[in-house]
Amino acid sequence: MKHNIESNPSTPGKFKMDKSSYNNRLRLHSYIPKLAFWSLVFLGLLYIFFYKSPPALSDLSRRSLRTSSYGGPNFSQKVKASAKITLRNGKSILVTGAAGFVGSHVSTALKRRGDGVVGLDNFNDYYDPSLKRARQAHLERAGVYIVEGDINDVVLLKKLFDIVPFTHVMHLAAQAGVRYAMVNPGSYVHSNIAGLVSVLEVCKNANPQPAIVWASSSSVYGLNSNVPFSERDRTDQPASLYAATKKAGEEIAHTYNHIYGLSLTGLRFFTVYGPWGRPDMAYFFFSRDILKGKSIPIFEAANHGNVARDFTYIEDIVKGCLAALDTSKKSTGTGGKKKGPAQLRVYNLGNTSPVPVSDLVSILEKLLKKKAKRLVMKLPRNGDVQFTHANISLAQQELGYKPVTDLQTGLRKFVQWYLSYYGNGKKSSQ
Ligand SMILES: NC(=O)c1ccc[n+]([C@@H]2O[C@H](COP(=O)([O-])OP(=O)(O)OC[C@H]3O[C@@H](n4cnc5c(N)ncnc54)[C@H](O)[C@@H]3O)[C@@H](O)[C@H]2O)c1
Ligand SMILES: *[C@@H]1O[C@H](CO)[C@@H](O)[C@H](O)[C@H]1NC(C)=O
Ligand SMILES: *[C@@H]1O[C@H](CO)[C@@H](O)[C@H](O)[C@H]1NC(C)=O
Repeated sequence: MKHNIESNPSTPGKFKMDKSSYNNRLRLHSYIPKLAFWSLVFLGLLYIFFYKSPPALSDLSRRSLRTSSYGGPNFSQKVKASAKITLRNGKSILVTGAAGFVGSHVSTALKRRGDGVVGLDNFNDYYDPSLKRARQAHLERAGVYIVEGDINDVVLLKKLFDIVPFTHVMHLAAQAGVRYAMVNPGSYVHSNIAGLVSVLEVCKNANPQPAIVWASSSSVYGLNSNVPFSERDRTDQPASLYAATKKAGEEIAHTYNHIYGLSLTGLRFFTVYGPWGRPDMAYFFFSRDILKGKSIPIFEAANHGNVARDFTYIEDIVKGCLAALDTSKKSTGTGGKKKGPAQLRVYNLGNTSPVPVSDLVSILEKLLKKKAKRLVMKLPRNGDVQFTHANISLAQQELGYKPVTDLQTGLRKFVQWYLSYYGNGKKSSQ
């Protein structure tokens, strides 16, 4: 019996076995109570982690409950009006994370061409929520209503599907950012794993099931060193918890496609930038700090190696998202049951030209007409990888995806927006 453990080849190195069989017998006897003990400790820790201590996770759910402002007499009307299709063969699309950077751009583009769009966002304060409110105001003028609520709120999601039989879900809500995962790991689990499952559960039960396009990330390539990154490369070496939750998302997508016949397309975005962007991203806070005369950290890899990113302009990403929606096939399940094989896709959406971060700063200096105070530092090992570079031939072939905006042009548009949004001194980007 002891050999069950000892000779199990699939877990090499898991148990350090002693040489003598006497010791083995002893170890095995004490093994079962030990296993029970450690399982209890583990479950206890899990319990504490999810229900007790971390203010982050419970705060988030509480906050989302508090700020969920849906319901009321005109709720259905507002949702229906927003979902109204004005284009022949138009789609009705639920966009999660609609008050976010990518979500607000995608929602505007869909609405503009005549699709019905309903937004969903919890307006969390990972970064300045007033920027999310400003995007919301923009969308409202374009005729897009954003429901305020959390993607983990299954009752709300069901209610939305009751009001509108969505043909598509564009799932962009997530906890983004790489370094913040060390501050608040729970929020990544909450939004990127539990939240994704909640969205997929409701989609799988919906009749008809919608097709789903969702945001994965280039970060799934992690420590992969084949360049350019291609969809066939390995993605099992994430360098951050953020990356690990996106990778988990891709596996969860596989499961829901396999079991329930949901049509699922994952998009691996590569460092998206542009007007209405995210204040936690380097190009954004570099601009702010250069204008303030504050020094900015420029990371370099070992041996003074460049840190580079495949910066992709928001309008190019938007085109890729719309193309993914337009080429997605219907889900095949009904009543929560699979009826046949369904589409499962993953695409890189990048720009194919990595730019060293120091070049990014030089471009910003020119556009802002101000010198940066550069503080060159070693790239810390806390989640950021040295470079990203997309192979986009698959998206090119199957989505007709073709990025056309170089970093100069895109940053000029960003800086124009930044100066008009913050420039008058009324608002400040902390
Ligand atoms: N911007 C990039 O460079 C980039 C790169 C790779 C992947 N992505 C992915 O693209 C998607 C959009 O990113 P973004 O840059 O627009 O980020 P963002 O933070 O601006 O947008 C995400 C939005 O989702 C909302 N949200 C978060 N958790 C939620 C929850 N539990 N319930 C409801 N709403 C919630 C947030 O309030 C936010 O408005 C994300 O999935 C992100 O991980 C972005
Ligand atoms: C609700 O809808 C009714 C009729 O559609 C309208 O008269 C009323 O002003 C609306 N109320 C609010 C708070 O929007
Ligand atoms: C890019 O990916 C395609 C497959 O999608 C592959 O055929 C091609 O060789 C890759 N190109 C490079 C330069 O690696």
